[in-house]
Amino acid sequence: ALGGKSSGGLTGRHMLVTAGPTHEPIDPVRYIANRSSGRQGYAIAGALAALGARVTLVSGPVALPTPPGVDRVDVETAREMANAVAAALPADGAVMVAAVADWHAPEAGSKIKKGDGAPQLQLIENPDILKMLGNSPKRPRLLVGFAAETDDVIAHATEKRARKNADWIVANDVSGDVMGGNANTVHIVTETGVESWERLDKREVARRLADRIADAL
Ligand code: CTP
Ligand code: CA
Repeated sequence: ALGGKSSGGLTGRHMLVTAGPTHEPIDPVRYIANRSSGRQGYAIAGALAALGARVTLVSGPVALPTPPGVDRVDVETAREMANAVAAALPADGAVMVAAVADWHAPEAGSKIKKGDGAPQLQLIENPDILKMLGNSPKRPRLLVGFAAETDDVIAHATEKRARKNADWIVANDVSGDVMGGNANTVHIVTETGVESWERLDKREVARRLADRIADAL
């Protein structure tokens, strides 16, 4: 029959996904950013839509096509991403894959000139969008964060899960060739423990995660 768990396990659900980097302008021609291709987040948005969910994808600047069946909202900065996420609520579940820049620079309306010497930027902390959702009265029932780490992957992910009030943290070790690549080795940190998956194509990580989300919702 149609609408069974395998084909449409998320029919009628609204899922929110963030993906890509954010760009924080230093002046009209320069920015600060985290490294992110957006591939893992876009694959997750596509996999959730393939299971029948209505998907809102809040995306930083990336060079990727919008997956079929996904509503995409383009943003540039972390503050814009936070506003777009808030505007997309309510959602049954959220998967925060974006590599959000942790700081922004003060507004600079005109181009900083090299001849004036190296700028001493007073960086200002950005809103933590996952933490904001975790503590919101509109908190999605299932809240999934990501953590890209180079050391003590599980320990950092466990700490982030608690600090941000997330249900699961999908942790990956980025000391290898994950960035911009097609494969990912992830560990799912939940209330009950850690599940480690073998190295998989990012699309396969997305399909498995979407199945797990459908089961949880
Ligand atoms: N995140 C977010 N908003 C931020 C920073 C992070 O929503 N301003 C989300 C990311 O999308 C990810 C999770 O929080 O799902 C973990 O991001 P990460 O950068 O690993 O965590 P931080 O708390 O910023 O810690 P770190 O010092 O390791 O960068
Ligand atoms: Ca960060």
